[in-house]
Amino acid sequence: MNRCTVLKILGIESSCDETAAAVVEDGRKILSSIIFSQARLHSKFGGVVPEIASRKHVEAIVPVISEAIRESGLKLADLDGFSVSSGPGLIGALLVGVSAAKALASVTGKPLYAVNHIAGHISANYLSSSDLEPPFICLVASGGHSHIVLAESFTSYKVIGRTRDDAAGEAFDKVARVLGLGYPGGPAIDKASFGGDPSAYKFPEAKIKDSPYDFSFSGLKTRALSEINSARQKSLSSSLPFDKLFSVKDFAASFQENIAQTLVKHTISAAETFNADKIAIAGGVAANRRLRELMKTRAEERGMRFFMPDMELCTDNAAMIAAAGCFIAKSGKSPSDMRLTAKPSLKAMEEFSA
Ligand code: KG4
Ligand code: ZN
Repeated sequence: MNRCTVLKILGIESSCDETAAAVVEDGRKILSSIIFSQARLHSKFGGVVPEIASRKHVEAIVPVISEAIRESGLKLADLDGFSVSSGPGLIGALLVGVSAAKALASVTGKPLYAVNHIAGHISANYLSSSDLEPPFICLVASGGHSHIVLAESFTSYKVIGRTRDDAAGEAFDKVARVLGLGYPGGPAIDKASFGGDPSAYKFPEAKIKDSPYDFSFSGLKTRALSEINSARQKSLSSSLPFDKLFSVKDFAASFQENIAQTLVKHTISAAETFNADKIAIAGGVAANRRLRELMKTRAEERGMRFFMPDMELCTDNAAMIAAAGCFIAKSGKSPSDMRLTAKPSLKAMEEFSA
C-alpha cells in the first residue's frame, strides 16, 4: 500500500464487553465511532460473564458495523481495509469480531490487519493528539492489564513493566463491588471520591524488590477489602450505623490516590531511565480524574510533554483499533490472511507490534 495515500480503515473491537466499530482516516481522524456497551447487562453479576458477552456480541456486531459505515458517510467500497482487535481478551468475545472482520475482508477483497488490543489503547492517543509521535513512554492501565510500555514506533512496542498480579482496573472493580458501588468500579470510585480526603485511610505502597517498573495491586486490594469488612463487623457488634464508622467518600479518595501515586511514580521513573521526553496514558483507568491530573503535574514538573486520550477513547472502543490498523497499513506490513484467529492471552509478551 502506498504510504502517502489517505487511508480509511474500519476497525472492530469485541475483546470484552463492548461491541464497537469505527471508521478512521489516516490514523488521526475519526469519521464514525459506534460503541454498544454491555456493562449494564453484566453489572448485576458484578463483572463480565464471558458466555453472555459472546452471545451479545453475536447479536450486536452486524448492526454496529452497519451503523459505523453509515455514520462515516462512506460506502463499503470506499474503505481501504479493516482492522480487528485479535487479543488479548475473552476468547469467545474476540472470535466474534475476528470472524466479522474476516468476512468483510473476504467479500471486499480488501486487506485485514490484526491489532494487539494494548497497542490499540496506546493508539487512542494519536486520535486525541495530532502531533504525538513515537518514541514515548505509555502507561496502559485497564481492567485486564497494567503495563508500562516504550512505544518505539507507531507499530512496535517494548514492555518495560507490568503488574505481577491484579490489573489496576481489577482492583477498582473488586473494591467498588464490595462497597456496593456497582460495575464498572473505576468510574464509580472516581465519582464517589469527589470531595473526599485522600489521606484519611492509609494504604501500603506496593513495591516489588529489584523491579522498579513492575506493579502489584493484590496486597492493596486485600487490605482495602479487610478495612471495609472490619468496619462492617464493628457496625454489627456496636449497633452503630456503618456510615458513622466508615466514610465511602474518604475511602474512595484514599484508595484512588494510592493507585494513582503508584502508577505515576513508576511511569515517571521509567521515562527518566529511558530518557523519554513524552509520556502518555491509555486504557480504561486513564479516564480516572486523579490519575490524569497527577501524571500531568509530575510529567510537566520534569519538562516532559504529557498526552492523554479524550475520556471516551480511554475505555474500549473501535476508533483506537482502526487508528492502529491505519498505522500498520502505512508501515507496509503484510496484512493477515484468513488463518487469523483470536489470541486470548498475550500475557508473556516482552515486545509486541501493533
Ligand atoms: O480498557 P477497558 O475499557 O477494558 C479493558 O481492556 O480491560 O478498561 C476497563 C477498566 C475497568 O476496570 C474500569 O473500572 C476502569 O477501566 N475504569 C476506571 C475509570 N473508568 C474506567 N478506573 C478508574 N477510574 C475511572 N474513571
Ligand atoms: Zn481494553
